[in-house]
Amino acid sequence: MPEKKHVVVLSGAGVSAESGLKTFRDAGGLWEGHSIEDVATPEAFARNPQLVLEFYNQRRKQLYEVEPNAGHFALAALQNHFEVSIVTQNVDDLHERAGSGKVIHLHGELKKVRSSRYPELIRRLEGWELKLGDLCERGYQLRPHIVWFGEPVPAMVEAMEVCNRADIFIVAGTSLQVYPAAGLIHSIPDGIPMYYVDPSANDTARARGLHILQENSAAGLPRLMEELIHTYKTT
Ligand code: OAD
Repeated sequence: MPEKKHVVVLSGAGVSAESGLKTFRDAGGLWEGHSIEDVATPEAFARNPQLVLEFYNQRRKQLYEVEPNAGHFALAALQNHFEVSIVTQNVDDLHERAGSGKVIHLHGELKKVRSSRYPELIRRLEGWELKLGDLCERGYQLRPHIVWFGEPVPAMVEAMEVCNRADIFIVAGTSLQVYPAAGLIHSIPDGIPMYYVDPSANDTARARGLHILQENSAAGLPRLMEELIHTYKTT
């Protein structure tokens, strides 16, 4: 049997929008109601840990109230036909809950916390609330397991390796404004098919060689999945 083609997906907040989670930069998005400097930097956590913990507690609480949507499920179903690797900027777990097996979280995971002193001490949080005074086993305050602005992105190395091995590349629901994640497109082998599913996808993306599906991912990803299965005639 021929080897399965490798589909790599770079996903962003738009993929979870139809599950009810806000994106960051759309009108009414998270960065409209909160400033990055107040809630998403190490300096913010040092200055006002209560505010930062509360911001992520609310995100985490909401995550327990939402479900994956048709876009997440389409990507999971793609595994029946292709090797699929998802590189996500999302900190939710909706790809996993839809059934995707290989998910790299570039910006961390909401349901995990880690020691503010020993970054290797990472664990799952029981429930949604992380409080001041919740400590790691070595006695230091726990913080959200989130990559904040100004911090390194440890999963980039693995993400670049995965992108290097792509046969087909899909970008979905991301404004491609945040680096280094947006730069992953440069790790994709030359000449492979690339698709961009996003209602705001524009001519700049087309000029970069991406086939555009200018629509929501809950509709666009199932349609693209059918197209890929048909094009590559996998069974
Ligand atoms: P953005 O908020 O920057 O972009 C969301 C994208 O989703 C936009 O391009 C929208 O057009 C698109 N979109 C909106 N609704 C959609 C839908 N139903 N289906 C598909 N697309 C839709 O979010 P990201 O690009 O994910 O990082 O942002 C990247 C990073 O910036 C985040 O991971 C976060 C943020 O600051 C950190 O917090 C470290």
